[in-house]
Amino acid sequence: PKLSTLFLSLLALVLQEAGPASLPEKEQRRSEEQSHYGESDPYSELHVGSYMVIPDDYSEVIDLSSYEELADYGDQLAEVRDTLAPPTRISPTQSKVTPRTPLSNPTMTKPTLPGPLGSPASHGLPTCLVCVCLGSSVYCDDIDLENIPPLPRMTTYLYARFNRISRIRTRDFKGLTKLKRIDLTSNFISSIDNDALRLLPALQDLILPENQLVALPLLPSGIEFLDVRLNRLRSSGIQPEAFRALEKLQFLYLADNQLDSIPWPLPLSLRSLHLQNNMIETMQTDAFCDPVEHRHTRRPLEDIRLDGNPINLSLFPSAYFCLPRLPIGRFT
Ligand SMILES: *[C@@H]1O[C@H](CO)[C@@H](O)[C@H](O)[C@H]1NC(C)=O
Repeated sequence: PKLSTLFLSLLALVLQEAGPASLPEKEQRRSEEQSHYGESDPYSELHVGSYMVIPDDYSEVIDLSSYEELADYGDQLAEVRDTLAPPTRISPTQSKVTPRTPLSNPTMTKPTLPGPLGSPASHGLPTCLVCVCLGSSVYCDDIDLENIPPLPRMTTYLYARFNRISRIRTRDFKGLTKLKRIDLTSNFISSIDNDALRLLPALQDLILPENQLVALPLLPSGIEFLDVRLNRLRSSGIQPEAFRALEKLQFLYLADNQLDSIPWPLPLSLRSLHLQNNMIETMQTDAFCDPVEHRHTRRPLEDIRLDGNPINLSLFPSAYFCLPRLPIGRFT
């Protein structure tokens, strides 16, 4: 009872400071989360508890509103896709210093913990104390993780950027049937177990730039967005016909790797293929278009980048007839 009195008076304080509109919203969100995680889920307590664990600075709790914007990151991504923005890439370094990203705030990403925070997961701490869990999003950016931490069963969006993760194991994402997005930008990932991602039924976005991958694992069939820029991918590390069955794949970003051929075949859903800054010297005449079926078109594939490769695109005059526009690259 004492604790609840304290909590109530703190809430009153929050009300005073944040204005009358904020409380019902917060309450509502909390009950949503409770139902989200279910009564029996051990994370639900932790999760709700995390609002009370740090009452010494309620301004932080109020600041969580800015995290809502972050949770909407997905919409930004969707916007980028829809407008098919020019292929300039947003480097993770840039996004890291962007002022609207509160993730660099150490008080939020590194909750107060006893002792030095070496590799939180290996200390066996509950993930939502080490990471920030908001609704079904889990934010674990920049906390020196060496492994994927155990994730709440209902995790939908995982952000674990700028860590030291070196390997993804089959067990890491096992049973996470809601997982839609995995963002592991800028880690040290050099291997992904072949079955680690294949069975994730909801996975749409796999975001892995700035790692050390030489090969791709088997991909789940629902994938729409694959970003593996700035790795060490070789053509031998992409299985034959790896993308053929991915009928929802729209964005395939393979720039800045060590590929020496264009992956084949490409699904008809593809809208954007980035292969700039690889080692591609030649291509098949049917790399994009079926030379037999001349009426066949690939209207969605508007954005092909082959610049920064040794290939002379003029040498393949009949390779582009089905495309809405020519690839970007060297024609002289
Ligand atoms: C590229 O191919 C075209 C067409 O065959 C040719 O005229 C041009 O000289 C080639 N460029 C280079 C640098 O080899």
